[in-house]
Amino acid sequence: MPKMEKAALAEPSRKHWNRGSKQVLTSYDLHHFAGNTLLDAVGRTICGAACLPRKELFESWEVVRKVLRRARGGPVLDLACGHGLVGWLVALLDRTTPIATCVDTCLPHSREQITAALSTRWPEVGLRVHYLEAPLDSMRVDDTTRVLAVHACGALTDQALNLAVAAGARFSALPCCHSYRKLADGGLSGWVDPALAIDVTRVCRLRQAGYQVWTSTISTDVTPQNRLMIAVPKP
Ligand SMILES: C[S@@+](CC[C@H](N)C(=O)[O-])C[C@H]1O[C@@H](n2cnc3c(N)ncnc32)[C@H](O)[C@@H]1O
Repeated sequence: MPKMEKAALAEPSRKHWNRGSKQVLTSYDLHHFAGNTLLDAVGRTICGAACLPRKELFESWEVVRKVLRRARGGPVLDLACGHGLVGWLVALLDRTTPIATCVDTCLPHSREQITAALSTRWPEVGLRVHYLEAPLDSMRVDDTTRVLAVHACGALTDQALNLAVAAGARFSALPCCHSYRKLADGGLSGWVDPALAIDVTRVCRLRQAGYQVWTSTISTDVTPQNRLMIAVPKP
């Protein structure tokens, strides 16, 4: 990546500011995004939309930055998308994304404000981002797709994983709401935290299905539900 572009993507430190706050970003927060980075520009635009909790911006940003190190190019499905900022950021940070489809059974109103603000600032990106109100398991996936499931609660993460594996698609998830009684833990809950056992079992499943898997975390000050898995089929 060229030096200039790297600098534009760099995250400035926002010391003494709780990035995990659920407070909605508004024009009162603009001074926290006074820099020249792309995150500053996105932050200012999101402040203008006045609809997104602060943690959602930093969470989506960190997830997308990490996913794009391993999986660039091709269509994106942001499953259980909520506001859909993850899909938007993939389309913005990776210009080789022809389409980002944000899918949720119950799209929140915030997606309209987010769409209005971001597509005014980046109209070309807006043309590549679409929302769909539908259950995630109704989506068609092929081996060019990148399937993303960010805080897709409980078994929704597994539904997304199943869709990706069945198609040989790239898959990334930041799981949450682990249901200890319903989700497979690989028999590991006797030794390790049950939520961790469930995520380890998901990674094993992906490896058995022929994927290379990278495990990572995003900052705990942004969210405690911070285990990120990124999986790409082995050639
Ligand atoms: C915790 S929210 C996550 C939203 C977003 N990804 C984020 O990180 O903020 C889970 C979302 O899953 C959606 N959802 C529930 N069941 C679903 C299904 N079967 N298919 C698609 N989305 C679903 C809910 O409407 C909700 O918006």
